[in-house]
Amino acid sequence: MVLITGATGQIGKELCRLLAQSHIPARAMCRNQEQFTQFTQIGLEAVQGDFGQPDQLRKAMQGCQQLFLLTPPVPQQAQWERLAIDLAVETGIKRIVRVSAADANLTTKVPWAKAHAEADHYLRSKPIAWTIIRPVAFMQNFFELARPIARGILPHITGDGQLSYIDSRDIAAVVRQLLTQQGHQGAIYYLTGPDSLSTGDIATRLTEALGHPVRAIHLAEVDMREQLKSGGLSDWYINALIEQYALVAGGYDIDTTEEVKRLTGQPPRTFAQFARDYHQELGADYLSQSKC
Ligand SMILES: NC(=O)c1ccc[n+]([C@@H]2O[C@H](COP(=O)([O-])OP(=O)(O)OC[C@H]3O[C@@H](n4cnc5c(N)ncnc54)[C@H](OP(=O)(O)O)[C@@H]3O)[C@@H](O)[C@H]2O)c1
Repeated sequence: MVLITGATGQIGKELCRLLAQSHIPARAMCRNQEQFTQFTQIGLEAVQGDFGQPDQLRKAMQGCQQLFLLTPPVPQQAQWERLAIDLAVETGIKRIVRVSAADANLTTKVPWAKAHAEADHYLRSKPIAWTIIRPVAFMQNFFELARPIARGILPHITGDGQLSYIDSRDIAAVVRQLLTQQGHQGAIYYLTGPDSLSTGDIATRLTEALGHPVRAIHLAEVDMREQLKSGGLSDWYINALIEQYALVAGGYDIDTTEEVKRLTGQPPRTFAQFARDYHQELGADYLSQSKC
């Protein structure tokens, strides 16, 4: 039995679907019981668990041999990682597959990248088998800009900076392999999409997939903050994003890797495919807006 944390998130929900499809015993951890049905309907177990509630977390782990550990990007992230790792050791879990980040770094000003570096070190110091994945930025992050994209604008502050964005469905496919195969103990895999793209390149692909023009517009930082704020993001999250965007604008990127193809047998999805698959989520209300 594998306990899936972050089960309702981007990676987790696809991972649960893949595990159910392959009849691999899995238990989806949810914060509240209303979230259970989506997992029990596809044949998985569901259990209540919150990283802020150690007793719930301990109970959720009982009887599991593996833990898929994914914590949300919040200020308590490093603390929750340590707690989950300690409880996994205590409850006799044999292996942890953990989501870290490609930019994990102890000295960075990006809080989640620092939390991931700390958690990676912590996990490696514990008496438990582990595999760490370090994905680059997700294509699904563009859902946060769905409203301006639907109106034909892709706001950014990343200049000509490029990233090899990955579709989180490909991360789930890698994790499925890691949870079901031997031989990945002690490995750290950097996961990327197929090519490095600037925000201008992404606007071109969105234009093709959505059937309406999308223009990349480089904003002043203060206007980007306003844009993100209007999407309902917290100040803590926005400050972290601004730090991360500055790194991208300054030329941060990692080499495109072959890991998705090597581990799953399938090439990683392109941004064009992502945009086609999610065209409704990314641009559905453009026509109704333009008719107003
Ligand atoms: N986005 C990127 O570009 C990127 C790149 C590299 C690494 N990462 C890392 O990937 C992870 C995010 O993955 P994702 O996008 O698949 O997740 P996500 O969509 O952001 O979902 C977060 C998950 O965490 C759950 N959660 C939130 N608070 C919780 C709590 N107190 N206790 C238990 N569960 C809680 C959420 O449950 P609810 O549904 O109840 O809210 C949800 O299942 C983070 O660790 C992030 O640092 C992200």
